[in-house]
Amino acid sequence: MSAEIIDGFGIAKSVREDVAKQVTELKRKGVAPCLAVVLVGENPASVSYVRGKAKALNECGMIDKSIHLPESTTEEGLLQLVDSLNKDENVHGILVQLPLPKHINENKIIDAIAPKKDVDGFTPVNVGNMLIGRDCYLPCTPHGIIELLKRKNIQTNGKSVCVLGRSNIVGKPISILLSRKEYNATVTMCHTGTQNTAEICQNADIIIAAVGRPGTVTADMVKDGATVIDVGVNRIPDTTKKNGFRLVGDCDFEAIKEKAAFITPVPRGVGPMTIAMLMVNTLDAARKQI
Ligand code: GUN
Repeated sequence: MSAEIIDGFGIAKSVREDVAKQVTELKRKGVAPCLAVVLVGENPASVSYVRGKAKALNECGMIDKSIHLPESTTEEGLLQLVDSLNKDENVHGILVQLPLPKHINENKIIDAIAPKKDVDGFTPVNVGNMLIGRDCYLPCTPHGIIELLKRKNIQTNGKSVCVLGRSNIVGKPISILLSRKEYNATVTMCHTGTQNTAEICQNADIIIAAVGRPGTVTADMVKDGATVIDVGVNRIPDTTKKNGFRLVGDCDFEAIKEKAAFITPVPRGVGPMTIAMLMVNTLDAARKQI
């Protein structure tokens, strides 16, 4: 079997086009959705992500209020900025790009974001609401994975899902979401303490790898006809590339695509969907704040 390679890039474009249409309608009512993206320092991956977010906002006709602060920014200074964005009625969403420099306590910053503007879905209020199935902003990467599964008509009801990784951004929330009644999957979350990860993967209908380590999922760990969602974004040195690196995921793409039914590539898989769902959440935030 040769897998269908899920075109996350194309699906994300279609999601952004849907958002753009709705933004046009909202603008007729006098509201222009606005997202404040705050970047502290020069982490190269973060600089690249933030650039992608600004481009998507422009494409969707939303207002991009990007704020780039120096690495030397203090925790107090960042808290003051978040506070002023919370109070600014023209700003509907706030995203503080992670990771933050070591001298800033990330939890303090996340806690300071007004939950109604937390389009990342990272504040404890949002996470709590997500856990108990109440109205909330879904975190963008899990939200994007679910949208991919829906658009490719990949069934989750009664299926076995293996999630690799227990991060707050991906592993934990996607495990909770797919366990909901509406998706009805049986989820096993594997992490560094798991003794039989390969065996759990081999029994899974859907594997979601979010570990941040190339080669974590090998072809022998994948059941024939499974779906493999690769969330990893790893930079590998590559002297043939102008920027000196190439991106790879957590899965052995070439070998797995001969066994799986569906697989997401890296790049152009889950990554663009994360940004597209940020646009969906920002639109939602603007609507809720009218
Ligand atoms: N760093 C890596 N992914 C994300 C994300 O989805 N949101 C934020 N704020 N930071 C990130």
